[in-house]
Amino acid sequence: MAKLDRSLLIAGNWKMNKTVNEAKELAEELVKGSNIIRASTAVLCPPFTVLGAVASVIESTVYRLGAQNVFWEDSGAFTGEVSPPMLRAVGCQYVIVGHSERRQYFGETDASVNRKIKAALHSGLTPIVCVGETLQEREDGKTHDVIKKQINGVLEGLTDEAVRSLIVAYEPVWAIGTGMTAEPEDADEVHAYIRELVNIAYSPDVSQNLTILYGGSVNESNAETLLYMNNIDGALIGGASLKPESFLQVISTAESIVA
Ligand code: 13P
Repeated sequence: MAKLDRSLLIAGNWKMNKTVNEAKELAEELVKGSNIIRASTAVLCPPFTVLGAVASVIESTVYRLGAQNVFWEDSGAFTGEVSPPMLRAVGCQYVIVGHSERRQYFGETDASVNRKIKAALHSGLTPIVCVGETLQEREDGKTHDVIKKQINGVLEGLTDEAVRSLIVAYEPVWAIGTGMTAEPEDADEVHAYIRELVNIAYSPDVSQNLTILYGGSVNESNAETLLYMNNIDGALIGGASLKPESFLQVISTAESIVA
């Protein structure tokens, strides 16, 4: 059971890269190439400190803005945190939540990701919710168990309407920043499994309309075979999103598939 419409979303996760001037330069390069973007959706997720600068550069272009993390309270004594209304006010429409680097280094859990999803949705942000297994878990044959636990955990208590408003990103931890991409068929199989879990917990309609991105060493050379897979609805790109020509090439590939 694949997604009903084949629109593709390409998101760049800049991670902890780019000072203000560097970010503006990258965004300007991306804007120069943006006339290729027609049927696909392109989202830039720079660090908090440059969201405003990037927002100014991409204003009145087709690019959309996203953040890499968010807290679940709207305001208050939470030193170092950034709230959903703050992200909305700076121009964000999307926010990545539960990235494996946040789970690994900053103690995020399915429960905290669940709170962040609810808060993001409440403020009108579209959460890009990350799940994925480690190499050890894959080698132990536990991929489905891990994905099931994460999906059920992060979606806990969410309504049909809420799940319709979010995006899932499958990012096998072993494929992130390693140059090791999942085989398209293997990635597609996990995407299909995620869809099946959502089908069971919600409905065929919610499941068939769910956008599921693949992430993990996606670049201009491997994007085509991945994006052709029925259950892969786009990509969440780290390293290659910092190179304008690579990111634009992936978008161009997406455009040729949806055209
Ligand atoms: P890479 O594309 O650098 O492997 O990173 C993937 C990722 O973590 C995107 O969120």
